[in-house]
Amino acid sequence: MAKTGKREISLRFLAEPGDVNFGGKVHGGAVMKWIDQAGYTCAAGWSMLYCVTVYVGGIRFISPIHIGNVVEVHAKVIYTGNTSMHIAVDVLAGDPREDAFRKTTHCVIVFVAMDEHGKPAPVPPWQPQNEEDRSLESYARKLMGLRSSLDEEVKRFLQPE
Ligand SMILES: CC(C)(COP(=O)(O)OP(=O)(O)OC[C@H]1O[C@@H](n2cnc3c(N)ncnc32)[C@H](O)[C@@H]1OP(=O)(O)O)[C@@H](O)C(=O)NCCC(=O)NCCS
Repeated sequence: MAKTGKREISLRFLAEPGDVNFGGKVHGGAVMKWIDQAGYTCAAGWSMLYCVTVYVGGIRFISPIHIGNVVEVHAKVIYTGNTSMHIAVDVLAGDPREDAFRKTTHCVIVFVAMDEHGKPAPVPPWQPQNEEDRSLESYARKLMGLRSSLDEEVKRFLQPE
């Protein structure tokens, strides 16, 4: 089994004018890219392997991010399967002239570690260490249950034409 890496990471940067939508705020696609980047960094850091996104669901955009805001993207492992890692991602933003950050987005994203042949590879198991971890792991398990019924609904749209 590979050596365990870091369980959580944060990215921090400024929302730039290139990230703007037609309403003058940061567009959702930019936020999704940051979520994917932070999730990848966390998953690759934990497994110490190349990883691919296998599932993103239930992204909740809670409040807008303004151009010029400092953005923090926090990602942490909240569940590991055999080859998959479930990563909780929270996006926070705030005016650099003020101290307060507000949560703008939350989601759980699933990555699969890949071996050198492009096949799913086992990942080091993550064990909850405290009450908060146990609650996050149980949240990940609950989402997995909900996802399997969603997958059934979506399946017919995934069939090739
Ligand atoms: C990731 C990929 C290799 C998995 O292939 P697969 O045939 O589903 O492989 P497996 O059935 O062995 O599943 C691998 C893991 O993915 C998980 N998985 C598969 N579908 C899933 C889904 N819809 N949601 C969550 N996890 C899922 C499985 O549970 C398994 O996890 P486990 O080993 O921890 O139990 C394949 O789906 C793929 O290449 N997808 C494209 C990835 C990509 O390009 N992403 C980035 C661009 S958008």
